[in-house]
Amino acid sequence: MPHIAQLFFKTAIIFLIIGIAMGLQMAISGNHNVIGAHAHANLLGWVTMAIFGVYYALNPRKAEKRIAMLQYGIYTSGVIIMVPSLYMMLLGNPAMEPVVAIASLITFAGVLLFAVIVFSGKETAVAPTAPALN
Ligand code: HEM
Ligand code: HEM
Repeated sequence: MPHIAQLFFKTAIIFLIIGIAMGLQMAISGNHNVIGAHAHANLLGWVTMAIFGVYYALNPRKAEKRIAMLQYGIYTSGVIIMVPSLYMMLLGNPAMEPVVAIASLITFAGVLLFAVIVFSGKETAVAPTAPALN
């Protein structure tokens, strides 16, 4: 698997652990105030990052490009800032709102860059035979 696909999966699984921890915290306490941080840790973190990882695994030529690493850096830094700042905002810290806003825009920039990667260059042909197990 290309390095960047591994990186996306390693980052994604950390967000799933954090996201589930928040879900359990809400379920156990009965206080669902951090629902937005939980939903976006799981969806922007685990789900979307894993989808990016699968895309790069299926397109190893695109995965080797520098723009792919730039996309990883921008997207993940957006989510890494967004989730904890949103969590703190939802816990009643309104000063975090501009941080959440900026982090959302960074995340969006990472998504737009992914769109550029998807639409640019050649696709990698997927081998018709099953990969060898080793
Ligand atoms: C053991 C794991 C999990 C627990 C204990 C948990 C717990 C919760 C709780 C307590 C809520 C609040 C429900 C409400 O107030 O209506 C919630 C909402 C939510 N959870 Fe989870 N969750 C878990 C895993 C996940 C995962 C893996 C995802 C996504 C991949 C996810 C996505 C969501 C979303 C999108 C909402 C918001 C739903 C809405 O807007 O009504 N959760 N979760
Ligand atoms: C930078 C990107 C994003 C921003 C700024 C954003 C913003 C928001 C906002 C403002 C809400 C309403 C929260 C509320 O009513 O309290 C929301 C809810 C929601 N969003 Fe997003 N969103 C983003 C990306 C996504 C993505 C990629 C997904 C799914 C893959 C998603 C799934 C949801 C879901 C399920 C809810 C309802 C659960 C909740 O109330 O938190 N969002 N989002």
